[in-house]
Amino acid sequence: MSNPVQIESVAAGRDVTPIEWGGGRVRLLDQSRLPREVSYVELASAEEVATAIREMRVRGAPAIGVTAAYGMALAAARLDSRPRTEADAALRDAAARLAAARPTAVNLRWAVERMLRAAEQSPPGSDLAARLLSEAAELHRETLDSDRRLSELGAALIPPGSALLTHCNTGALATGGYGTALGVLRRGWEDGRVGHVFATETRPWLQGARLTTWELGRLGVPYTLVVDSAAASLMAGGRVQCVITGADRIAANGDTANKIGTLSLAALAHHYGVPFYVAAPVSTIDLGAASGEDIPIEERPDFEVTHAGGAPIAPDGAPAWNPAFDVTPGGLIAAIITDCGVTRPPYSRTLAEVAGDG
Ligand code: MRU
Repeated sequence: MSNPVQIESVAAGRDVTPIEWGGGRVRLLDQSRLPREVSYVELASAEEVATAIREMRVRGAPAIGVTAAYGMALAAARLDSRPRTEADAALRDAAARLAAARPTAVNLRWAVERMLRAAEQSPPGSDLAARLLSEAAELHRETLDSDRRLSELGAALIPPGSALLTHCNTGALATGGYGTALGVLRRGWEDGRVGHVFATETRPWLQGARLTTWELGRLGVPYTLVVDSAAASLMAGGRVQCVITGADRIAANGDTANKIGTLSLAALAHHYGVPFYVAAPVSTIDLGAASGEDIPIEERPDFEVTHAGGAPIAPDGAPAWNPAFDVTPGGLIAAIITDCGVTRPPYSRTLAEVAGDG
């Protein structure tokens, strides 16, 4: 991976450009360094892209899908004039490596499978690299459109002047577009429906404290950062009218994998009678997973729990468990807001209606 490129201009504007293609490389705003440092990494191969996804320089289900699509374009660019059967095998290999980088977010698998289909449909002798780059760029453009659609639909569900609680980071950083749950908050703020946002810090990687606050601040949306365990007090005190999160994979029955801690928020919201919403594009729905039991949950290294900001916070050798996601039963979710419509229970019927054609 090439050295980080320090670029300050992004701090000036409202819109964030976390993923860009240029000069035969994919350029990522390095989310592992925000908000202290605004720097980019430039990646020149599918292997470098897989490493950047694993290291969470880019994260968020839709964003890693978009980045992996560009990773497939990078793989195609290295095939030169190899015979087609060899090229197809090399692309399948790149797809498998990219998809394995983070197992829970189905958008990653969905994106590389779409790129493989585009390659298969390219006639023999055609320019495979150009074809895959144009497919990746199209997928990236579609992300922005679908984010905007679901944000508009989601914002309409929020009573005017509400305070909302959100978890992790689901903004432009997490999608490469406009955002999902944070897109709903952004649009809701513009429409006068969202009065205030409570952002949970999201231990251990601190996507809420480092990234959601950074995005909300740039957008001018009023927010308060809280520790994850403050959510119960907020809801008990009637200070939150809705909870909204994103998703990494939604099973056919509505069970939803999302950042660890989402399940606690959904259970609390149920207890206090606060509506709990999930916002995600249809590419996050996996009808092949019958329920949450079919969703693989990524476990990350212990040091993310035993350390904070690089410094140890636990005794040397303290054992830790670090699942990156948990599964919220569909029964706790009031609505799943997608770019193809707002779905409500029974999810086994309504999700198939919006995602049935893949
Ligand atoms: O581990 P992360 O930061 O990739 O987890 C991200 C989340 O859990 C998001 O809520 C989800 O991917 C949706 S992002 C629009």
